[in-house]
Amino acid sequence: MLIAQMTDIHIGFAPGEEPEELNHSRFRAALERLHEAPNRPDMLVLTGDITDHGDRESFATTVALLAGCPFPVWPMVGNHDSREGLLHAFPQVRAAEGGFVHYVLEQDGLRIVLLDTVEPGRHGGAFCEARKAWLTARLDEAPAAPTFIFMHHPPVVSGIDWMDPDPGEPWVRRFGAAVEGRGNVLAIHCGHLHRPLAARFRGIPLHVTPSIAPLVALDLRPTDPDRPDDRTLITTEPPSYALHRWDGATLATHYEVVSDWHVLARYSAHLQPMIREMFADRE
Ligand SMILES: [Fe+2]
Ligand SMILES: [Fe+2]
Repeated sequence: MLIAQMTDIHIGFAPGEEPEELNHSRFRAALERLHEAPNRPDMLVLTGDITDHGDRESFATTVALLAGCPFPVWPMVGNHDSREGLLHAFPQVRAAEGGFVHYVLEQDGLRIVLLDTVEPGRHGGAFCEARKAWLTARLDEAPAAPTFIFMHHPPVVSGIDWMDPDPGEPWVRRFGAAVEGRGNVLAIHCGHLHRPLAARFRGIPLHVTPSIAPLVALDLRPTDPDRPDDRTLITTEPPSYALHRWDGATLATHYEVVSDWHVLARYSAHLQPMIREMFADRE
């Protein structure tokens, strides 16, 4: 099974202006890879900040850009979205108790948990007692099943100071308590940071998929909120998406940067000896 993940598309950033077309074209280019690639996914997960303002019009534009996808699309909210806008645009998703947009998918023996880490009006993450209880109940339902968690906000400190949570934030501790010691949680994949990141959280591998929208600059110096220092914040680095491959035993994650390149070698008769040799090495 192949699960594609795209995150932080930010449709509606600047309607009618050039930066808006930039996000459309970056999203279109990434989607084209899924259509034409030899790796067509079984589903596409959108891990939040699908829109920039959460309005119905931006969600409608997103749905129009997704039209023709031959695979199901499963969205979740980011801090820039609104639950109301998302639920209106994606009728395949229903709000859970408390109005949260969190749900579980099951396919090919894998449980895929999509979380809601949004608190309206707040840039950073949120994970209240109600959501902790919901996640705990879902994990308790199948404590041995291989499980994969998607959430918008990474609960770790990346070093990109202005985007980071404080490690002691209550929502991080609450989420940590819910997943601590759960050996069946194979990985946590996030968005929000607009940069690739690999880390561990309570012993669980945690990754951030880079954004479709422009990227956050890689600058690990501390940020002083009282003193602008003209550092680069956002760049035009190309968009990326993740392709998570589950074969029933291993969950392997690939990333593709959506940009132009040239083919340097093909699997031709000329290169067949090299391929044969690589297979011969297998024991
Ligand atoms: Fe974002
Ligand atoms: Fe975000």
